[in-house]
Amino acid sequence: MSDGDGAPGRLSGRLVALGVTGSIAAYKAVELLRLLTAEGADVVVLLSASASRFVGALSFAALSRHPVETDVLELQADGRIGHIVVADSADAIVVAPATAHWLGAMANGLAADVVTAACLATSSPVVVAPAMDGDMWTHPATQANVARLRDAFAYAIVEPDTGSLASGQSGVGRLAELPRIVDAVVAAVAGRPIRQPDAGARPPLAIAPVREEDLGGRHVVVTAGGTREPIDPVRFIGNRSSGRMGVALAEAALGRGASVTLIAADVSVALPVDRARVVRVETADELRSALLETLFGSPPAPPVARFDALVMAAAVADFTPRAPAAGKLSRGEGLSLELRPTPDILAEVSRIARGAGGPGSPGDGVIPRPVLVGFAAETGSLDRAPDKLRRKGLDLLVANDVTEAGSGFGSDTNRVVILDAEGGREALPLLSKRAAADRILDRVAAALDARDAAGQTAAMQERNA
Ligand code: C5P
Repeated sequence: MSDGDGAPGRLSGRLVALGVTGSIAAYKAVELLRLLTAEGADVVVLLSASASRFVGALSFAALSRHPVETDVLELQADGRIGHIVVADSADAIVVAPATAHWLGAMANGLAADVVTAACLATSSPVVVAPAMDGDMWTHPATQANVARLRDAFAYAIVEPDTGSLASGQSGVGRLAELPRIVDAVVAAVAGRPIRQPDAGARPPLAIAPVREEDLGGRHVVVTAGGTREPIDPVRFIGNRSSGRMGVALAEAALGRGASVTLIAADVSVALPVDRARVVRVETADELRSALLETLFGSPPAPPVARFDALVMAAAVADFTPRAPAAGKLSRGEGLSLELRPTPDILAEVSRIARGAGGPGSPGDGVIPRPVLVGFAAETGSLDRAPDKLRRKGLDLLVANDVTEAGSGFGSDTNRVVILDAEGGREALPLLSKRAAADRILDRVAAALDARDAAGQTAAMQERNA
C-alpha cells in the first residue's frame, strides 16, 4: 500500500473506474474506493441510478475528488462525454457490487446506465464482483449471464462469499471481501502500461483547476446578446441570440483577472453586474455609441485605446427600420417596412484601431495594438468566414454553424472554429460555452503577450540604434 510505509501502491499511477450498481452492498463501495486509493489509484466513480438511492454521489465525489458519473446523457463541464472519457482513460473498470439486473444488462449489451455504457466502450480489463440474494445468484439466468461475462467478454469475476445476507438468510451472494476485489484489480492491470498518464485526458477533478490570472491588468470589452430595432414603440425586429456566449466570455475573462466592460443588448441570462462594468443597450446604433465611447473615449478625443481586447459576441442587427413609427401602428391594411443596413460596427472599430481612416484616426492606429475578435454565426458551411476575418480586419474570428445540434443560439454548448489572421484554423470539439470561452481567451491572452513582447523588442532595438 502507498500509505504508512511510503512504498508505492500496487495501483500507483493507475486510473480505476469504480462502477457501483443498486445492491444493498453499495455502501461497501465507499470503503472499496478508499482501499483502491490507498493502493495509489486515481479512482473515478460511475453510479447507476438505483445505486444512488443507497449511497449519494457526494460521498463518492468527496473521496475520489472527481465528479461522479451518473447519467449517460450528461456532458462533463468541459463538454466531453463522461462515460467515454472514463472508458478511454481508465486502466480497469471494477463493478462492485454488481446486481443481478446489471449482470443481465451487461450480458446483453444494454447500455442504459453509465456503468454498462463505460464497460461497452472500454478496451480495458473489467472486474466484476456480484452481490445479491442467494436464490438470485444460483438462478440459471444469473449463472448464464455470469458465464457470458467471464467466457465471452473475458471479464474477471470475483465470486460472492457465503454468509448472512440482507434478506436475513444465510447463503452465497455476499459481496466478496474487499481486499479480494482489490487483488483482482491489481491482477487485471498487471503487466499493462499505464493507459493515460496525462491528467488532462482523464476525467476532470471535482474542483475545477483555477486558471492563472493571465489577463490580469488587461481591459477586455465584450459585447453580448441580440439588438432590438424598433418598428414602433411596442414592436421590434430582434434575433435569437440569448447572450450566453458573450456572458460566458465576460465571466471567463473576470476569472482570469481582466477588468471587463460588458456591453449587453437583449440577453436571457444573468449579467455579472457586481464584478464587471455593464452597459445596457437596445439597438445597433446604441451599441455602436456605447462601444466607441468605451473603446476610444468621446469624440473629438484622439483615439487612444482604452482597451486591450474586444470580443464582439453580440448579434447585431444587420437591418433597422428606416423610420420607426412614433405611435403604435394599427393592423390596418398590413405593413411594409423599409429597412436600412446598420453600420458594421466591428469593421469601424477595426478601421479606427488599425488606423485605416476612421474619423480622427492617426495613420498607424492606436497604440498598443488591441486584439479584435469577431463572431460569425453561419448556417451550414463556414466558407465565408476567412473572407469576413480579412474584411473586418480581425485578429481572430470565431465561427460556428448555428443550425448544428447543440451549437449556437440558446444552447449551453457550442462547437466553434477559431480562425486567425495568419490563416490558422482551430476546430474545437463540442464544449460548454464557458469552456469554449476559455479556449477563445487562451488565444486572446497569447496574442496580447506576443504583442507586448514584440513591443519590448522594438523599444530595445530603438534604444540600441
Ligand atoms: O458579417 P456578420 O454579421 O456575420 O459579422 C458578425 C460579426 O460582426 C460579429 O462579431 C458581430 O458582432 C459583428 N457585427 C457588427 N456590426 C453589424 C453586424 C455584425 O459589428 N452591423
